[in-house]
Order: sequence, then structure tokens, then C-alpha cells
Amino acid sequence: MAGTLRHMLRDDDVNHEEQKQILELGMKFREDRHYHMPFAGPQGVAVLFDKPSTRTRSSFSVGVAELGGYPLVIDKSSSQLGRGEPVEDTARVLTRMTSAIVWRTFGQDRVETMAKYATVPVVNALTDDFHPCQVLADFLTIAQHKGGVDALEGMTIAYLGDAANNMANSYLLAGAIAGMHVRVAGPNGFLPRQDIVEDAERLAADNGGSILVTTDAKEAVRDADCVFTDTWVSMGEEGEYAIRSKPFWPYQVNEELMSLAKPDALFQHCLPAYRGKEVTAAVIDGPQSVVWDEAENRLHAQKALLTWLIGQQRGEQSLLV
Ligand code: CP
Repeated sequence: MAGTLRHMLRDDDVNHEEQKQILELGMKFREDRHYHMPFAGPQGVAVLFDKPSTRTRSSFSVGVAELGGYPLVIDKSSSQLGRGEPVEDTARVLTRMTSAIVWRTFGQDRVETMAKYATVPVVNALTDDFHPCQVLADFLTIAQHKGGVDALEGMTIAYLGDAANNMANSYLLAGAIAGMHVRVAGPNGFLPRQDIVEDAERLAADNGGSILVTTDAKEAVRDADCVFTDTWVSMGEEGEYAIRSKPFWPYQVNEELMSLAKPDALFQHCLPAYRGKEVTAAVIDGPQSVVWDEAENRLHAQKALLTWLIGQQRGEQSLLV
């Protein structure tokens, strides 16, 4: 069967059924870390970083190795890409040597250009606009704790904090695709772009979910099944912490706010976390927090994503046997 070259550049690059297939594969990899080894050989997978990382670097490095492949990890400071070599030329070279390209970078246009010139799957490992690998891991964590992948549909999730950042955008799109009720709350001036909200609303309507963007943190978390937050200051903005953090205090996830969610609600944070800022220690280190499962699930979810993408390119039938 002829294959199709697919990429994961933003969360809506897959539809409802495809997202479910990837998450089901993630559940398989949770049970058996060597469930499938599509890069056996080993075949190389380029894993490029223009920004710092702990979880993404370790999960893709270990994940590619567990898929039978060789993770070719390259930092900006040690590559010609970091010295200004065009993305197009980098894509043309890496595509001849590797079976997939994973990239953490700045502008979304950069991963789009990489995908345009590559003939292997390209995966967004975080851009300024989206973090789709993180949200796959987060949804896998809900599936792990709440009765499987089918349980995601109809759930209510709430994200609080900087609602203009890549995590908020990814929850909006991925949650809408999953058929969830997605609530995003942040202060005025830190709300999602209108085009992303409109895309999410259209996807939610198609999949039986809904979208709420609000400045009211309590409205967002009321009766939610899962509460998410992220650092108030993104990478590269740490110097502005005192000024930037000011409007975010009403969105701090503390015990009082968590008590408005369902009694068995989960708490997740993509990490790194700043205790006493976007989340209190009582919540992140408390009984509702599943952040360490969430971090581990980066490994399983990304292995599932790479397996699914390479399966699409090779024209393989579903691996969910
Ligand atoms: N959540 C996340 O992407 O972590 P790293 O920045 O450590 O990769």
C-alpha cells in the first residue's frame, strides 16, 4: 500500500480518529516499551534543539533508541543551522540521512519550512506557537488515570495562566479534536489569538466539544476533570519575571482553586514548574498531581507519534493489533 508523508507541526495535523490511534499506541508503549521497533537497523532520527530542554531531549533520545533507532541529537550551538544555514538546505541534507526530523525552535514558520523541504516526517518539539508532543503526553496521562483513551471524549479540561502561549494554543486545538470541553483562562493581554480560537471552535463543533476563553479563573476550573498550568514566563523571558508575573496571580493553581474542580480532578504541569508562582507546592506535590506520570508519558506518547507517522509513510495498516 502506498504511504503518505505526514508531519506533526501543530495539534490539528491529525483528526479525531488519528489522535485516538496515536494515544492507543501510547497506551501499548506504556505496557511494553519495545512493543514496536520501526527504526530497527538502527535508522537515524534527527533531534534538533534551538532552545534548552530536559524532558523533550531525554524522552526523544531514549524513545528513538527504544524504537530501535539512533537519536542524532544536535544543539543549535554545535550546528550550521545555528550559524544561519538555511532551513531548506538543512532539510535537504537531513532528509537523506534520517528517517524523521524532530525540532524544537522558535517560529512556527521554521518547522513548516523544514516540513516543506523534507521527505521524512517532521515533528514540532515546541515552537513559540504550539507544543503538540506535550499535549499528547498530557492526554495519555488522563487516559492512564481515567479509564482509557475513549474516556477523553466529553471531559472538561481547564488551562490557567498565560493563555497566549504555546501550551494554551495546543490545549485548544488538541482538546477540540478529542471532543473535550476546553476552558482557557488568563488575564487580558494574555489570551489566545483569534484565529486559533476560531480553529478550535470549528474543531470542537465537529467533534462534540466546546471552547471557553475567559478571564475568570473560577469559571474555568469549576467541575473540571483536569486542571493544567504552565510557567508564567516562557523561555528567554526570565529577566522580566517581576513585571510579567503581576497579572497572573489570580490564576495561580492553589488548593482553593483546585477545590472548585471535580473532587477527583487531576492536576498537570508540563514542567519545569515554579512552586509558589503558577502552582503551590501543596497542589503540585499533592494527591491530585500526576506530573511525574505526565513527564514519563512524554516518552510513550512520542514513541507512539513517531511510530504512527512512519507507519503512515510506509503505508502500514494500523499497529493496534
Ligand atoms: N515540558 C517540556 O517541554 O520540558 P523541557 O523543556 O524540559 O523539554
